[in-house]
Amino acid sequence: MPKKIEIKNLDLFYGQFQALKSVNMAVDGNNIVGLIGPSGCGKSTLLRSINRMNDLIEGVKIRGQVLLEGIDIYSSKLEIYELRKRIGMVFQRPNPFPLSVYDNVSFGLRVEKFKDKKKTAAIVEKSLKAAWLWDELKDKLHKSALSLPLYQQQRLCIARLLAVEPEVILMDEPCSALDPIATMKIEELMLDLKKDYHIVIVTHNMQQASRVSDVCGYMLLGEMVEFGRTADIFTNPKDKRTQDYITGRYG
Ligand SMILES: Nc1ncnc2c1ncn2[C@@H]1O[C@H](COP(=O)(O)OP(=O)(O)OP(=O)(O)O)[C@@H](O)[C@H]1O
Ligand SMILES: [Mg+2]
Repeated sequence: MPKKIEIKNLDLFYGQFQALKSVNMAVDGNNIVGLIGPSGCGKSTLLRSINRMNDLIEGVKIRGQVLLEGIDIYSSKLEIYELRKRIGMVFQRPNPFPLSVYDNVSFGLRVEKFKDKKKTAAIVEKSLKAAWLWDELKDKLHKSALSLPLYQQQRLCIARLLAVEPEVILMDEPCSALDPIATMKIEELMLDLKKDYHIVIVTHNMQQASRVSDVCGYMLLGEMVEFGRTADIFTNPKDKRTQDYITGRYG
């Protein structure tokens, strides 16, 4: 069986600047993968390359491979629309559409011209439940999503992804706009979702990486310095640079 995601010798250039240097990593099993490293080391760039979000940036050049179940996502065998459905993304700032809660969650279904109203309602309910929002929002389905507090907006964005049944969820510092209580809730939600989804999370917060991830990668200046079990990275890192970072000796 090919791995869910396998990244092989990935180089990425923004013009002349090389932001990723021969990066290798894999996402497989019921694992949450954490990506850590100092600001500017390429975490977001790497995450975006997994669902081709960098394609939108001018002057980007990519070498190497990102394989989704063995298929190169940069080849013509995979439509970008299909790819983004299979690999969804959550951003630092929640980005709900200026629509109602209901229309946000059902948005992906509308894009697919899914017409069955009863089934749509059932999927909206199921997705909100899966994002632990149903009880909070079941009486506010027609309220504007933008009027919700940020901690609900972020879970709403997660519900919107779940509605189209992705396989992989990419999260780029999903808690950076949230307070500690809302952060805990997202972390608990992630631990619940990992039963059914592959999750990759970029985080600045090492405690968060050690709490939620099973496998972790430490990046520095575009390189994947070390990639392995989170317990090993945090207690027994192989590379001196990883050790310096996790013990706070970096920079
Ligand atoms: N669109 C772009 N054009 C040119 N350079 C870019 C672009 N986006 C990122 N970079 C550069 O690529 C490098 C990696 O950036 P990236 O945003 O991936 O880092 P990061 O690890 O996510 O940082 P942070 O922790 O601050 O979010 C940085 O040097 C950054 O300046
Ligand atoms: Mg970033």
